[in-house]
Amino acid sequence: MTASTYVNDDRQNHLFQVNREVFTSQEILEKEKQEIFSKAWIYVGHESEIPNKGDFQTRDVAGRPVIFNRDRHGEVRVMLNSCLHRGASLCRHSSGNAKIFTCFYHGWAYRNSGELVNVPGNEDYKAEPAKVYEGLKGPAKVESYRGLYFVNFDEDAESLEDYLGEAKYFIDLVADQSPEGIAILEGTHKYSIKANWKLLVENSVDGYHAKSVHHTYFEMMMDLGATPPMLGEEIVNGVAPSGMGTEFPNGHATLMYPANGLPLATESVKETLAGMRRTAEERFGESYATAMFGLSRNSVFFPSFIVIDLSFGLTLRTMYPISPSETIVTGWQIIPKGVDEEFIKYRVDNALTFWGPAGLATPDDVEALEQAQKAFSTQAEIGWSDISKGMGKQMPAANDELQMRAWWREWNKRMTGEALPSEGKSFVPFQKQTTDA
Ligand code: FES
Ligand code: FE
Repeated sequence: MTASTYVNDDRQNHLFQVNREVFTSQEILEKEKQEIFSKAWIYVGHESEIPNKGDFQTRDVAGRPVIFNRDRHGEVRVMLNSCLHRGASLCRHSSGNAKIFTCFYHGWAYRNSGELVNVPGNEDYKAEPAKVYEGLKGPAKVESYRGLYFVNFDEDAESLEDYLGEAKYFIDLVADQSPEGIAILEGTHKYSIKANWKLLVENSVDGYHAKSVHHTYFEMMMDLGATPPMLGEEIVNGVAPSGMGTEFPNGHATLMYPANGLPLATESVKETLAGMRRTAEERFGESYATAMFGLSRNSVFFPSFIVIDLSFGLTLRTMYPISPSETIVTGWQIIPKGVDEEFIKYRVDNALTFWGPAGLATPDDVEALEQAQKAFSTQAEIGWSDISKGMGKQMPAANDELQMRAWWREWNKRMTGEALPSEGKSFVPFQKQTTDA
């Protein structure tokens, strides 16, 4: 397969296709590790997950095990979770608080700021390890935006803020939801799927599939008296009931649509949300508050950091490849700080019943993606997948596929060096009028 055959971006015929080999080839995965996961900004975690000195979380970031922690000086660090001696995992807990990380293999010990401080049998070394090794290694760059920490393994990478560019707006809409800030709820969804990681990226910003794949969820909710999602009637801040897609440089993209209902919300939950909206109106003006609470938004930040803000839940998700046909997925819930227990319970219930690996939405998505992956064995006969919906439209709707095309063009650029022009559908609607955040 030659590089130029990964995508077919035929502007004249409004046809966009992706070669199915990109979902099955080991060679392409190896190139993705090099060109994408070692050079793009990769999400690690949120500051609220490590509030105190010594707090840590361990996680795999695009295949690399890391310790995400706050050291004894209060500084946030990301260090590779591999002992300098002979490589064992230094920290084997998923989270906790530690001043020292001691390797279980031979006992080398490191401060939570990375320095090697104890080597058992040190007297046997002519060259003292603590003097030879500077300390635990980290990625070339660690930067944060609104409390979200990202790493980059490329020393020459542009700054995180430049990389996110205008798409930062969709992070602001989340981070500004409470004057006290936002926090990740303790507890994580972690599961693997037997499908290529790019299929779940597409699915995360795909408004087209909702009605068909998730119809049982919508029917059940409506039977229980909920407002049907994605059936708004009014234009909200210029966004029609059919919603809209938007694209940004560097492969970031969002789809937005008038906020879906609040399935099964109690009066107290509705009042909490209304109160948050009133506070946002006072702080930032009505238009921005409407963008925040009147629109639902699914965003992808290239390559695979997803922020989905529906009125009944706010989720972050990452997906990284294990092999061409297996992906590890992690999902977190965000809560605006200062909300009461009932609101948190409502969000947790929705997270479990909708997004959870045993919820009513995720298994349906996973089924579709795993079936697609299986069927890619027919790639020699069928060859290409189609992502053309809404191409050439003046105003792409939420159930069009602009978001995915924008993402694929960035993927293609990083993999081949070939820069395909965007469709010019970048749109940031409603700036805040004041900034006190
Ligand atoms: Fe860690 Fe030997 S591998 S002390
Ligand atoms: Fe879905």
